[in-house]
Amino acid sequence: MAINIYQDKIFALQTKNNSYLLKKDENGLLSHVYWGKRIDCIADFDETTQRSENSYHLHVDQTMEEYAPFGGMRYKETALKLEFCDGTKDFRYRLTGYEADENRLELILEDVFYPCRVRLIYQVYEAEDIIRRHTVVENFGTEDIVLEKCASAQFGLAGCDYRSIQFNGTWAKEFFRQEDSVRGGKKVYESMRGSTAHVANPCFILHREADEEKGEVYFGLLAYSGNFKVTVEATPYDWTNVVIGINDTDFSWVLKPGESLETPAVYAGYSAEGFTGMSQRLHRIQHRYLMPKKLADQPLKVLYNSWYATYFDVRCEEQKKLAEKAASIGVELFVVDDGWFLGRKDDTRALGDWTPDPDKFPNGLNELIDHVKSLGMEFGLWIEPEMVNENSRLYREHPDWIYRFPNRSVLKGRNQYVLDLTKEEVVSWMIGMLDKLLSDHDIRYLKWDMNRAIGENGVYGKHSAEHKMMWHTHMLNFYRVVKTLRERHPDVEIEACASGGGRADLGAMTYFDEYWTSDNTDPLDRLSIQESYSLLYPAKYMRAWVTDSPEERKVSLRFALHAAMCGSLGIGCNLNALRREELELLKEQITVYKKIRMTVQFGELYRLKSFETDGIQAVEYLRGAEGVVFAFLPAGRYGKNPYCVKLRGLRADGTYRVNCQGRVLEKSGAYLMEVGIKIQLHGDYDSCMIQINNMV
Ligand code: GLA
Repeated sequence: MAINIYQDKIFALQTKNNSYLLKKDENGLLSHVYWGKRIDCIADFDETTQRSENSYHLHVDQTMEEYAPFGGMRYKETALKLEFCDGTKDFRYRLTGYEADENRLELILEDVFYPCRVRLIYQVYEAEDIIRRHTVVENFGTEDIVLEKCASAQFGLAGCDYRSIQFNGTWAKEFFRQEDSVRGGKKVYESMRGSTAHVANPCFILHREADEEKGEVYFGLLAYSGNFKVTVEATPYDWTNVVIGINDTDFSWVLKPGESLETPAVYAGYSAEGFTGMSQRLHRIQHRYLMPKKLADQPLKVLYNSWYATYFDVRCEEQKKLAEKAASIGVELFVVDDGWFLGRKDDTRALGDWTPDPDKFPNGLNELIDHVKSLGMEFGLWIEPEMVNENSRLYREHPDWIYRFPNRSVLKGRNQYVLDLTKEEVVSWMIGMLDKLLSDHDIRYLKWDMNRAIGENGVYGKHSAEHKMMWHTHMLNFYRVVKTLRERHPDVEIEACASGGGRADLGAMTYFDEYWTSDNTDPLDRLSIQESYSLLYPAKYMRAWVTDSPEERKVSLRFALHAAMCGSLGIGCNLNALRREELELLKEQITVYKKIRMTVQFGELYRLKSFETDGIQAVEYLRGAEGVVFAFLPAGRYGKNPYCVKLRGLRADGTYRVNCQGRVLEKSGAYLMEVGIKIQLHGDYDSCMIQINNMV
């Protein structure tokens, strides 16, 4: 049983290795009492947790509440803030009941006077050591209730001696790992851009002296692609308060009588085995439960994307030539990026007019699609449905379909406006437009982009509380569009992109088959981005392309290929400009990749070495009897060779065949993990791939 309840007051959520315990305390508060390694005897927690209080520090503020409402002399970060119709802003709750089955627990907190109830819902994934939490607020009265904050979850961690990791990036510098001590006040990680964006990821990672192999790590990821807020607060009472959910800045939600609001979910866990334990738990839950089912068990195809080859200058004949080259090197999916639709010559025009440009495709898009299919590949297309350019038919016909204020000029980002998805007619248009595009053409893949943040935080002609519902309404309708599309076209694979990696989150994962990790395809930068990214998300969800080397850094094609083979491989080079030997190398490595991609995309991932600390980077993937390791040297140092890479996750008593730089070794798992493999890496930008096979 994953849920154990002791005397109707102690609630234990038990996973394979961990316990998460809550308690109704002597003051009627629902408090968090323990999270860590598994403890089965939950009766041991039946003891008083009363702290001494004085007029400035009442127990409500001191208690590690499981879901603290604003007010009532609480000054810590709270999870819920609401206002009843008479102006009362104080949810005074009692735990009035619970429902439990094998893996699910629901705790009901009800106001002592007003007709309002909060349901805290827990789903336990025993084998994966993950708890999913979300919250539902219900109005069962006859007057409106206005929610001003409604987080998905709150967590209390004993002590304040944690370090907090976040990814404070920008465009082309996604997943830039930052680490700080938790001590002293609050840390807030958030997005107010109407999307996940690049500046932070909707997650918390708190650890105590953890490294890849050991140390305690607490973590939680929010399944949401809109404005989010994560607050980490060192309380003066020696515990750390974490609140995660929809951002309450400019948020409001009117609950009419009989209505309820369901928050996005948080997937949380505890690892006593450092960051590897965290990543592997997260990757497993994503593979098993979050990814869209259709492709969840299948490896992603090797794709070619012509963006970097032709940019906006898309022409049918040129694309056909690229497609022929792509097919000849083993590509399985040919993708035309931006520039294919009516009048799109540059980024100042045409967004919104999603019909193939007759100047570029005089015989329609199907001519190219048929050619691509005749070469044995599938066809894919770039699209950015949430946006419109001023210079477009769509905008000329519907200038009122964008977010705007009446007496202000509309803000532009990349020359474009954001469509007002709170309007039902816009939602219907979007579904209809996408449905038609996919019905008229045999398109098997979409790269769904979003290239600007929302700037006008208002809905034309609406006011006050309802006005502030636009952020979340936008997200719900965005998800509805993608969901409807997927139901109507279940065979279409969809990749999420937002100026690179601006939409990498578990909310998007529910609807998209993969993420575009970053527009930065420089292999060295990419390896750093990929290393941080892999802390949270699996390699399958990390689309990685080989592109032509940028001017500022000439990296060998093999190095670039190996870097991209660490995720779901794509090719973005100008194939028409490559030399024969380069095309041959691409072909050779694509063949290799197809043999190892199940291991890379579905294997357990181990970060073995990091540029920052070791001078080289090495990453291992292990799936059943098969393993693969990639190692990278950015810059050779005199006298440094050979480099020793110790493997992880093997059976100590197993025998392994290791294929490494032309040598075939047979070694025990114990040897490979304790002594390691010696590899020769020379000069600048050298790399190698090692294959491992468990023989017995
Ligand atoms: C964004 C994406 C790129 C590319 C361009 C096209 O920047 O991140 O990958 O698709 O748009 O305009």
